[in-house]
Amino acid sequence: MHCTRKVLDDLIWVGADDRRLSCFEGVYSVPEGVSYNSFLLLDEKTVLFDTVDKAVYQTFFENVAFALGGRGLDYLVISHMEPDHAYTVGDLILRYPDVKIICNAKIQTMLGQFFPMDLSARITLVKEGDTFSSGRHVLNFINAPMVHWPEVMMTYDSTDGILFSADAFGLFGALNGRIFADETDFFTEHLDEARRYYTNIVGKYGPQVQNVLKKAAKLDIRYVCPLHGFIWRRDFGAFLEKYLLWSSYTPEEKSVMIAYASVYGHTENAANILAVKLAERGVRVRMHDTSVIPASNIVSDAFRCSHLVFAATTYNAGVFVTMENLLHDIAAHNLQSRKVALIENGSWASTSGKVMREILAGLKNIDYIGESIALKSALAESQLEQLDALADAIAQDIRA
Ligand code: FEO
Repeated sequence: MHCTRKVLDDLIWVGADDRRLSCFEGVYSVPEGVSYNSFLLLDEKTVLFDTVDKAVYQTFFENVAFALGGRGLDYLVISHMEPDHAYTVGDLILRYPDVKIICNAKIQTMLGQFFPMDLSARITLVKEGDTFSSGRHVLNFINAPMVHWPEVMMTYDSTDGILFSADAFGLFGALNGRIFADETDFFTEHLDEARRYYTNIVGKYGPQVQNVLKKAAKLDIRYVCPLHGFIWRRDFGAFLEKYLLWSSYTPEEKSVMIAYASVYGHTENAANILAVKLAERGVRVRMHDTSVIPASNIVSDAFRCSHLVFAATTYNAGVFVTMENLLHDIAAHNLQSRKVALIENGSWASTSGKVMREILAGLKNIDYIGESIALKSALAESQLEQLDALADAIAQDIRA
């Protein structure tokens, strides 16, 4: 049975929620599900903006058929070839054999890679600056390379001021009947999952996001329709401000994230004592056990906080695996401009501090703060002074 909603009288949301997926892209936990958005424009020509993941294909096709109301489907605009949006393109063509595809050259190449059928006769290639009229609506095409794949293209409907923004401005979490951000208490309920989505999916490509934001700033945008999450029709500026921070690797908060990897609790103990000392100095602390909390949550908080403390035990002549994985993940996401402190532990031949530093070495504008602290099996009473000194250095820097 169909499940659609009107965005505007002639624009219908025909996407679907998936609440059974445990890990988006096989790695990002999505306990609140995820939405795959697709939009159908009912103009003189009918135009579908993207398809959906295979997991929700049945609802999607019922939605499209219902929203078309017996009309044919004239055009499909493809903005992004990642299969959570493009998996069902092949099925769509079988169901609507007259549909034409509007896309750019890179998308055409990827279509050929994903779908071994000759689609050339039905493709209208567009490039940045081209326009297409579907009747009342005029569509303008904007390349958004590496946000977060190279072929990505946004579409701006200059008739009604609608930006179809591909993955940008998306989030994790099912829509649950609401399709507009203003139907939620967005900044209380959904900002954390929007940050986790941005930082993990797009975070590596900050400069490319900034480039697209500059292009978008020239447009009269009244609606933003992303491929995941809520549609924006008011108060978009506050969300845009977050994107400006995240994409420039500017911390959202003057705060400390402590991430620790502790096998028997001794490293955790030192991290806990540091957290207490920071709290006593009025510093806000966010804390994660890398063996328990998924890396995507910690990466997200690393983008959020100004100061990062990593505490880890030595393991296999390196650093404990959950910390190693986290730091590689942070490095892969190109995090920059943070103050960092390290606590290492080792009962013999301690190496975790050196390895942590090596993994982070390629990141830009990382400044180490305070003296690194080296534990021998457990925090010694005499080392409390070192934790005090580190807490003082961080608190002073935050106040400054
Ligand atoms: Fe939601 Fe990059 O796909």
